[in-house]
Amino acid sequence: MQNFKTIRFDYNNMMLDYIGEEGISSNEYDKLVSSASAAHEKFMQSCGSGMTGWMSLPYNQEDVVSDILKTAKEIRQDFDAFVVLGIGGSALGPMAVFQALCHLRHNDLQKSKRKAPKFYVEDNIDPERMNSLFDVIDLKKTVFNVITKSGSTSETMSQFLIIIDVLKKAFGSDASSHIIATTDEKNGNLIKIAKDEGFKTFIIPDGVGGRFSELCPVGLFPAAVLGIDIKLLLKGANDMRLACSKGELRTNPALAAAALQYYAMSRGKSISVMMPYADSLKLMADWYCQLWGESLGKATDNLAQTVNVGQTPVKALGVTDQHSQVQLYTEGPFDKVVTFIGVDKYRCEVEIPLVYDQYPSVSFLSGHTLNELITAEMIATEFALTKNKRMNNTIMLPDVTPHTIGQLLMFFMLETAYAGVFLNINTFDQPGVEEGKNATYALLGRNGYAEKANEIKSRPSKNQSFIVGL
Ligand code: PA5
Repeated sequence: MQNFKTIRFDYNNMMLDYIGEEGISSNEYDKLVSSASAAHEKFMQSCGSGMTGWMSLPYNQEDVVSDILKTAKEIRQDFDAFVVLGIGGSALGPMAVFQALCHLRHNDLQKSKRKAPKFYVEDNIDPERMNSLFDVIDLKKTVFNVITKSGSTSETMSQFLIIIDVLKKAFGSDASSHIIATTDEKNGNLIKIAKDEGFKTFIIPDGVGGRFSELCPVGLFPAAVLGIDIKLLLKGANDMRLACSKGELRTNPALAAAALQYYAMSRGKSISVMMPYADSLKLMADWYCQLWGESLGKATDNLAQTVNVGQTPVKALGVTDQHSQVQLYTEGPFDKVVTFIGVDKYRCEVEIPLVYDQYPSVSFLSGHTLNELITAEMIATEFALTKNKRMNNTIMLPDVTPHTIGQLLMFFMLETAYAGVFLNINTFDQPGVEEGKNATYALLGRNGYAEKANEIKSRPSKNQSFIVGL
């Protein structure tokens, strides 16, 4: 039987014993233990309703998974490139899982080694980027997965319009075989268009919002096309869900992480730095940043009081950003919590050879591996931060596999949901983003947005003396 290993959350360096008065005392810790238990209860009571549908995804999608696997197999046989059109929660998860679990130079590999289509995620509407896509794909051999929960996001829908137009011009009625839609069953225009055009469609279930959607077809389908074992991904997520099923901070890792960040926020730590020490996990930090930022950055709480809460998420990459950001983290303001993500066993080992015996300050590296070096650098950075009394904690992955990535995804989603309970806010809405979306509709003259257009028009005009140029 396969031996499944679990990820570990180490928060020693959040505690007073390790970082002095900046850390959490045992009294404060005891208080956190009881407030964590209450937060867990409150969250569990909300499960099964509202936007907590993502909690059931690890175990309630048997038929969906079969359909995904069948469709993915056909795509892998018929196409050389798979392009996701989506943004925010409809793009960051697929990108993070691709980066974590596929070859780090997937698209550059020869087809025989790649064993899956090339993968592109178009999560911006920069016209140059859109144009450049057509220079690297062969339209005949490309399938596009349009992903949008609302079915109406301007960025995704404009990309879709461009692509479908090109496909129709090239292939006529066969254009629809190049599009797969992932969207809400009832809301938005994409579902209507998909039905009219006969696109293969996957449904984003009720109760699953954009940034919590990686474990539904939004993420599972692209992952399956790439050959990732999505059943193991779901198993990992389910194992984490079960590990977090009790309201005991000492045994529930996501609850512990949320409680500690909440405490840190109350002590002025307004920045959360996510710093994986693995290129494969680089985009996990991007995904986390959206999840944490968009979920917790809120103006009002559940009692409609103005609170303006949240913690600014920042992504960093170990060791690369040791040479750009760590100076600030070590000596700058005491306003951050740094979370390292380490890996016990990388997927390969690279030895550093002995080449210049005569230079001891270089040759000391020889005989070691890059694995030892990257691990030592993570420990060294953790040591430096701790010595300088900086709050930090570490998530350790035994290895990077679908099972551990599933765990990590669920860990962060649960941590975010718990943090929202601590802050007493609506974790699952995004009124600030909606405001920008509506303003865009108004600026582009969408029907029904005249009032918003007037509001924009009547904003104070710019003072030219504050604009400086040559
Ligand atoms: O988390 C969210 O809800 C957002 O970030 C959305 O994912 C993003 O705005 C894209 O929305 P949609 O999937 O509706 O196109």
